[in-house]
Amino acid sequence: MTEQEKRILTIIEEMTLDEKVAQLVQLAPPFFEGAANEGQITGPMAAIKVNKEVVRNSGSVLGTSGAREVIHIQRTHLKNNRLGIPLLFMADVIHGYRTIFPVPLAIGCSWDLELAEKSAEIAAKEAAISGVHVTFAPMVDLVRDPRWGRVVESTGEDPYLNSQFARAFVRGFQGENLQNDFDRVAACVKHFAAYGAPEGGRDYNTVNMSERQLRESYLPAYKAAIDEGCEMVMTSFNTVDGIPATGNRWLMRDLLRDEWNFDGVLISDWGAVKEMIPHGVAEDEREAAYKAIQAGVDIEMMSACYIHHLKELVESGWVDETLIDEAVFRILRLKQKLGLFEHPYRGADEKREKEIILCEEHRQAARELATKSCVLLKNEGVLPLNRDKKIALIGPFAQSGDILGPWSCLGSKDEAIPLYDGFKMKVDPSLLLVAKGCDIETTTEKQWQEALDIAREADVIVLALGEHSDMSGEAGCRADIRLPRVQLELISELKQFNKSLIAVLFNGRPLDLHGVVDQVDAVLEAWYPGTEGGAAIADLLFGDANPSGKLTMSFPYSVGQIPVYYNCFNTGRPKDAPDAQERYVSQYLDIPNEPLFPFGFGLSYTTFSYSEVVLSSDYMTPDQPLSISVNVTNTGKVAGEEVVQLYVRDIAGEVVRPVKELKGFQKVFLQPGETKKVTFTLTEEQLRYYHSDLQFTSDAGTFVAYIGPNSRDVMALTFKLVK
Ligand code: GLC
Repeated sequence: MTEQEKRILTIIEEMTLDEKVAQLVQLAPPFFEGAANEGQITGPMAAIKVNKEVVRNSGSVLGTSGAREVIHIQRTHLKNNRLGIPLLFMADVIHGYRTIFPVPLAIGCSWDLELAEKSAEIAAKEAAISGVHVTFAPMVDLVRDPRWGRVVESTGEDPYLNSQFARAFVRGFQGENLQNDFDRVAACVKHFAAYGAPEGGRDYNTVNMSERQLRESYLPAYKAAIDEGCEMVMTSFNTVDGIPATGNRWLMRDLLRDEWNFDGVLISDWGAVKEMIPHGVAEDEREAAYKAIQAGVDIEMMSACYIHHLKELVESGWVDETLIDEAVFRILRLKQKLGLFEHPYRGADEKREKEIILCEEHRQAARELATKSCVLLKNEGVLPLNRDKKIALIGPFAQSGDILGPWSCLGSKDEAIPLYDGFKMKVDPSLLLVAKGCDIETTTEKQWQEALDIAREADVIVLALGEHSDMSGEAGCRADIRLPRVQLELISELKQFNKSLIAVLFNGRPLDLHGVVDQVDAVLEAWYPGTEGGAAIADLLFGDANPSGKLTMSFPYSVGQIPVYYNCFNTGRPKDAPDAQERYVSQYLDIPNEPLFPFGFGLSYTTFSYSEVVLSSDYMTPDQPLSISVNVTNTGKVAGEEVVQLYVRDIAGEVVRPVKELKGFQKVFLQPGETKKVTFTLTEEQLRYYHSDLQFTSDAGTFVAYIGPNSRDVMALTFKLVK
């Protein structure tokens, strides 16, 4: 035990039971004396009755920031707290604090781990100088259902890719040493676990799956974040095998703490302790408190079960006080790791706020990542745009600042660059016409006519369409994932002008793009591109940057296909089998099995060719990895980046194995005519999987390696694992 940890034990010995219990309580700013604002409310504000004593002894605050505000609350708290224990300040700094980066689903499509890490580092810096100590990020929930609104916060459907991004975000947020580097914040990986798999894609709904599937697909990214040193874990709202995560002792004690050796702080999600009552595993708040503390939840966020019942549970012998001491110890140790005992105001600094927040360097980083995160889904020779042509920019997002996404912390729509402003950086205003044509879901005769008038006058029509940012995000689920009808009608009306039609999409989920991709000449998926969104998209549309984004989530052909994901099972009657029958195969009568756009898909303004794939051998062993190489050539006229992807299939496992699994990727930048050799090294560890007895091992046997620009258009080579 370190000297610092011994000091914590000394503090705990001096604490009364009331003080210990209050340390496990997290409250919103309004509870604190002199708080200037109510902070960010991101959940149901239940009436929480706590007395002044509890506030004086509480352990943390969520949802507030700003150096002046944090210093004021902290100073007041330290005056009132008997032992001078500082507060932890936590906030949802998901993809930017005030300089907002693209939403995580977009960042995932960049396949750029360095830029992802950089975005988290910048977010941490702006947050830390504004007094934030912990961010409730990264969200690493794997998602295969775009109806679920929080897909926008994820990096998609692949366990390996999500794990890589989880690590990058934790590194960016936390850096190397939180005690000395006050420009970083502690990260909190969420939502543990499998929150991204609710039945029907409906938020907070039941999650039901085998432990094997949980371990194989849904847990790896949380484990990656923890292995990268993530200081905190947040419980999820959903059940895991019939028990709400927040009271699930197997999940939180056996797996998270014992098997994974996580010894950091475990915080509930908003009100999730009390929600064990409506879930139906607790009769009242007392039982909810009992189950949560037994599961090892250290901090109760925004409900008061702990504060109302833990003391009595200890005094009546239901809960051993050592469980409370453990939780207090972990919380105080995190405060110590952040240097808060010696520096309770840590990085909070009004002067630096003014100098650093939204500085040009940060905006440029956001612009670069946004250009890498957009995905070119279609281009029938109409992009890049010609700067001498008259352009009509039409749609609800033409001049909208609603391009930050639903979790944009202190990001302001007024500080965002709308698409129209981005266009004005590129072309003479006399060549640029703009009209809304419609709002997100409605239109007026005037709006409609204005759009038709400028379309008539223009050479090229660029449509800026999509979902309002509150149509995704928490509790933002949709059963119909098409663009709103009025926008589809606008497309078909404008198509009648027989002019080049380009659609730029601002949305928080994979959409059913029928009525869009079949109607227009080009589609750029921009997601919510962040503060510099309009500038980044203009860079791409006018060719000052070349699209390189690749989808990290399948775009369904229709909502009826969901869940549709690339790493699926083959079934016993695959439709594409050589001897497949007409009828008795796994298929729909009315739509294809394949998604509209597959995982890993994205176009460029140039083209790339792949040489024959070469294997170092036709077999590998645990001691002899396999080298897999391919030459990639830029066969077009402009420089561009390609994401070369390696997938593997285990032809016959002890349990069914996916038809493909991403095992590696490399981004290569190529000048026109340039060729680069791309080599992957595949190890036996990468072929391991959970067997029916949950052993994580590999089997000797036959495998197929696939290489290509996406999960569909691949070259295959067979090899064996010999053991
Ligand atoms: C919300 C979200 C969670 C967020 C927390 C604090 O309900 O589920 O992701 O971090 O509350 O705002």
